Amino acid sequence: MSAPTLKAPRGTYDVLGEQAEARATLEARAKSLLAGAGYERIETPAFEPTELFARGVGESTDIVRKEMFTFDDGGGRSLTLRPEGTAPVCRAYVEHGMHKRRQPVKLWYLSSFFRHERAQAGRYRQFWQVGAEALGSDDPAVDAESIALLAALLSQMGVREVRLRLSSLGSADSRAEYRERLQDYLRAHEQSLSEDVRSRIEQNPLRAFDADHAATRRVMHDAPRLLDHLSDDDTAHFAQVRELLDEACVRYEIDSTLVRGLDYYTRTVFEFTSDALGAQSGVGGGGRYDGLVQLLGGHPTPGMGWAAGVERMMLAGDGIAAGASPVDVFVALRSDGARRAAFGLLEAARSAGLHAQMELAGRSLKGQLGHADALGARYVAIVEDGATVLKDMQDGGQERIATDTVVHAVLRGLRAL
Ligand code: HAM
Repeated sequence: MSAPTLKAPRGTYDVLGEQAEARATLEARAKSLLAGAGYERIETPAFEPTELFARGVGESTDIVRKEMFTFDDGGGRSLTLRPEGTAPVCRAYVEHGMHKRRQPVKLWYLSSFFRHERAQAGRYRQFWQVGAEALGSDDPAVDAESIALLAALLSQMGVREVRLRLSSLGSADSRAEYRERLQDYLRAHEQSLSEDVRSRIEQNPLRAFDADHAATRRVMHDAPRLLDHLSDDDTAHFAQVRELLDEACVRYEIDSTLVRGLDYYTRTVFEFTSDALGAQSGVGGGGRYDGLVQLLGGHPTPGMGWAAGVERMMLAGDGIAAGASPVDVFVALRSDGARRAAFGLLEAARSAGLHAQMELAGRSLKGQLGHADALGARYVAIVEDGATVLKDMQDGGQERIATDTVVHAVLRGLRAL
C-alpha cells in the first residue's frame, strides 16, 4: 500500500514553471524601478519577536488579534512569522543605526508574509509583497514620490482598472482630539453598531469606517470625518502631497472614510484597488508612519511607504509574459529619411529609462504598427520629417508633436493611471 499523499497547507501554494518565470520578471521590473529611484534592497528575517508587531502594528488590529502565526522558540520567547514588512524595516533601521546615514534612507523588499486569514482567491496565508519604505524625512515630496512609484509599478505590471484612494489621518495630536469626537458619536449610536465595532470604541474607533455590517455603515455615513478636523500643518502637508501628485499626473480620489488595517499611520494614507480583482480588490497600499520608529525605541524619525501584493498584481495584471519586457514606446519610421531622427529618439528614450524598441526589419508603416501591437507596445512614435506622430496604443488617440518632446509625453502618459 502506498503512503497517503500530502498537500501544501491551506492558503499556501507552489510556484511552478511559468509562474516562477512571471515572478522573476516582476522582481526584475520592481528592482529596475525602485533601484533607479535610489531604493536599496533589504531582507529581514521571516520571524521576529512577537512584541515587534504587537507594539508596531497595534494590539487592537485584526492582524495582531487574530491573524498572526505565533510560536514559542523553545526557550520561552514568543516569536511570530512576519505579517507585514514595515515594523521589521523600522526595527532594522534602529538596530543598524541608519539614522547616521544620509536621510531619507530608502529601502525596498520582496518578501513573503504570513497571515492566518480565511483563504480565498487573492487571499493567502503565505503571500508575497513588494514594499518600499523611505525613512527620515517628512517632506510631502517623499509621500508623492512614493505613491507615484507604486502607480508606475502597477502600470508596468499591466494591472488593470486601477483606482487610487487617498486621505490624511493627520498627526497623532490632531487625531487625539478627533478620536474623542468620534467616540462620542459612536457611543451615541451604540445600539446600532456591530458587536465588533462596539468592542473597539475605546481602542480603535476609526476602524468603524471599515465595517461591513449594514446598520454600522448607515451610522458611519454621517459620522464626523477626520479630514475635516486636521491641524493647519497637516492640512498644508496634505495639500502639497496632492499638488505634487497632480504634477506627476497620478489620478486619485479623496476618500475621507479610508482607514487602514494597521495602527501606525499618520498623515497620508492611500490604497490602490483594481476592479479586475474580486472581493479582495486591494492591490497595494501604504502611508506615512511618523511615530513608528520612536515607538520601537529609535529616535523620532518620520517614515513613508507602501506594499503591493505580488499575487494580486499578477491576478489583476494583463499577464506578465515570462521573460518579455514591456515596450513603453516603439519607434516607427514614416520613410527611410526619418531613420537618423528615429535612432536619436530611441537613444533618448532609453536614456530616460524607457523600454524602447525601433523598427529594424524594413516593414511598411502598417507592418510596423502590427509589429508594435504584437510586442504589446504602449506607444508608437511615428517619426516623420521634422515632427513625430505619437500614437497611444491603449486608447488609439494620436497627436503630432515635436520629436524632442516625445520622451516627456510618453513618461507623462505612463504615469497617468
Ligand atoms: P497591507 O494593506 O496590509 O499593508 O498589505 C499590502 C498589500 O499586501 C495588500 O494591498 C494586498 O495586495 C497584499 N496582501 C495583504 N494581505 C494579503 C493576503 N492575505 N493574501 C494576499 N495578499 C495580501 C501592509 O502590509 C503595510 N506594511 C504597507 C505599508 C508599507 N505601509 C507603509 N509601508
